[in-house]
Amino acid sequence: MHQFLPPHPPRPTSEREDQSDLTHDFDPLAPEPTIESAHDVHRDMRAKCPVAHSQTYGGFFALYSYEDVVHVLTSSDQFTTSVQNAVPKFAFTGRRPPLHFDPPEHSAYRRPINRFFTQEKMAKIAPAVRRDCVDVLAPLIAKGEADIAVEYAQRFPPFVFAEFFNLPRELATVIKQVSVEYIAAIQIVEDESVKRLSRRLYEIAQAVIDERRKAPMSAEDDLTSALMEAQFEGAPLPDELILGCVRQLLVTGMVAPSVFIGNMFVHLSENPEWQAELRANPALIPAAVEEYLRMYSPYRGMARTPNDDVEIGGRKILAREPIALVYASANRDEKVFPEPDKFVLNRANIKRHIAFGNGPHACPGAPLARMMFQTTLEEALKRTSHFEIAGEIKMAKWAEWGTNSVPMRFTPA
Ligand code: HEM
Repeated sequence: MHQFLPPHPPRPTSEREDQSDLTHDFDPLAPEPTIESAHDVHRDMRAKCPVAHSQTYGGFFALYSYEDVVHVLTSSDQFTTSVQNAVPKFAFTGRRPPLHFDPPEHSAYRRPINRFFTQEKMAKIAPAVRRDCVDVLAPLIAKGEADIAVEYAQRFPPFVFAEFFNLPRELATVIKQVSVEYIAAIQIVEDESVKRLSRRLYEIAQAVIDERRKAPMSAEDDLTSALMEAQFEGAPLPDELILGCVRQLLVTGMVAPSVFIGNMFVHLSENPEWQAELRANPALIPAAVEEYLRMYSPYRGMARTPNDDVEIGGRKILAREPIALVYASANRDEKVFPEPDKFVLNRANIKRHIAFGNGPHACPGAPLARMMFQTTLEEALKRTSHFEIAGEIKMAKWAEWGTNSVPMRFTPA
């Protein structure tokens, strides 16, 4: 039977000759009072210190330029996800494919996953996504005031998730609640809580697998069942890694949509002319979502570590030192996207944005995420004649970027 390779064998970590290389160029925990303040910092870092080091979280490097981030993402032979795939490191409770695996084992998990995000699968799930969207959104618009981040962006993704994973809605809501606590514990670096909540998510993933064993579903219709039937080099995937994969899928797909959705509403509230334009021309919504993904990319702490010492932008980074990839900055790199802070519909090179990553780990869930966001804007614009911000906007913390709270006032159509 094929033995899955252990994580990269530990290589001797080189001694850093000059400790002054380990400067403290930025603080990921610095307050971010407004929706644009992190982007102001990113602009500064791209200009002055695109390969930066921070002493926070035990020390890590961060790449701010598009070119450097894409270089690392597309060089998976040099930069692994198996040691630490996020800053701060929080995966203490086991390796979870696909994110924590490098090719070729990585592909054994991506193959079955990718099959669930085809156009055909998306067309099948589209009516359920719209129904879930309307179920959550319509009552909020009808009551005239709501926090779109808390009351919609936190509640809609679990419902979609339930449809996608064939889970009862109640279970998806529990998963979301545990994930919210889990992410909060990661953000304040409460390692014991991170471990406890991670173990809880493992129990839930195990319950989903047990349920499929009791009442099998077709591998055509159910991703968990497809993973249970998948093979790598003629052998089934190991049980503990199927568990890890289901556990990872449960969380990955819910975090980013929750901090992303509110950003679109902030932009449209602050720019009512765009609200009117998209309301009058809903066919423009997919292009608007794409530009929002570029401008409001929700990740800045996804990470890699180099297998050997490397040099990036003239700065030496030693084997196994963590490197955060600041997607949120890369997508506003003026060298690639002219006037990067401006919302431009149908930018010539919009397809180059990396909100969903790049290289072997590029997000498989992108088609579902796009559908969720387009449906949200279509329904929100159709059901209102106007909406606006009605209170204080609160921002998520590193490693996410986006809104945690957006109080809004709606004028129903
Ligand atoms: C705003 C929405 C989303 C954004 C911006 C996003 C972004 C990303 C990014 C940047 C990565 C690559 C991470 C890396 O390179 O280290 C990723 C990976 C991943 N995403 Fe998403 N994602 C979103 C929604 C979803 C959804 C809805 C799902 C599933 C239902 C999903 C499932 C995954 C999985 C399984 C991976 C790991 C892929 C691998 O390691 O091969 N994501 N996502």
